[in-house]
Amino acid sequence: MMILKDLVADKIYQQSGYKAPVYSGAIKMDANENPFCLEEPLKRKLMEELKKVELNRYPEAGNPELRARLAKYCGVDQDRVMLGNGSDELIQILCLTMKGKISGVMAPFPTFVMYKIIAVNAGQKVMEVPLDENFDLDLDAMLEKVSAGFPSLIFLSYPNSPTGNLFDRDKIETVIKKAPGLVIVDEAYGAFSGQTLLTLTKKYDNLLILKTLSKLGMASIRLGFLLGHPEILEQLNKVRLPYNINALSQLTANFFLDNIDEFDRQVDDIVHRREELFAGLKKITGITPHPSQANFIYFSCNFDSDHIYANLAAQGIMVKNLNVPPRMTNCMRVTVGNHQENETFLKALQRVVSEQGA
Ligand SMILES: Cc1ncc(COP(=O)(O)O)c(C=O)c1O
Repeated sequence: MMILKDLVADKIYQQSGYKAPVYSGAIKMDANENPFCLEEPLKRKLMEELKKVELNRYPEAGNPELRARLAKYCGVDQDRVMLGNGSDELIQILCLTMKGKISGVMAPFPTFVMYKIIAVNAGQKVMEVPLDENFDLDLDAMLEKVSAGFPSLIFLSYPNSPTGNLFDRDKIETVIKKAPGLVIVDEAYGAFSGQTLLTLTKKYDNLLILKTLSKLGMASIRLGFLLGHPEILEQLNKVRLPYNINALSQLTANFFLDNIDEFDRQVDDIVHRREELFAGLKKITGITPHPSQANFIYFSCNFDSDHIYANLAAQGIMVKNLNVPPRMTNCMRVTVGNHQENETFLKALQRVVSEQGA
């Protein structure tokens, strides 16, 4: 029997990979999805459209029609848009492509874990820079590491996951100016903040904006898109697999754009519910929520978050337990749910906290 350890790249063998939990019937408040299902008559309309897909044919390679529509939606030229099978795939393509004389991936900590996992798998060196005490960029530390490590890619989640805040815009602009390579501002949660740095792509050729439909009600179709300079996208497209966006997803993404008003309304609702959830968390003794510009709230607990997590899970309520000492000791992240889900979660949390004697 071959020794697998000798075949697999060391860095891949040593890492544990991303573990997406599988469960049914739970109140899902762990993955920052939109809590609203597609209702009738929209659901029926989509099902009618999906019938037209010719399942025996490959999807349209490069997705010109959908790219043109997304370009219009974002107010950019079509050659400044590239689609991915979720933004995860675009992060992967970036990490596989940007490995020239300059290489390495930089990201703050804590942030979206997939930057590191994908970078390691792609054979990139990873540089992490802790955020400051307000969860903002530590500019001096970042610039020091930039000049020492010379990364080809810097990922900035805006708003940041899991902390939910927006980094200071001037600091981001300084990073873009000083970066030897590309800066990717990941706006997966941008819609919930009402902020975007897209206009800066006109000023800085090394800035790319990453977006996704996953947080807007379309997580199942896996559609992310990258906006930036056509010459950069031309190189990335050489690494992209030809038919990366399947026909059902292409059609559903077009449907999303046809019905954008309904999805925008849901975003407004989620922002409203976020404030309700924040106020509810604040009332619970021993829980400290952090203000959020996203569709989730990061909070710390005065007691063991592993116990809270297990207790909530036993009641069918899934949240994200981030208990990583020292920076995230007893910290958790909860996705904003619909009114009923938020209420159920808050009541359950209050109960488990009271049982702890707080
Ligand atoms: C900051 C950030 N970027 C990207 C993603 C991945 O999005 P997608 O579903 O488009 O792959 C996530 C998912 O949670 C995220 O939190």
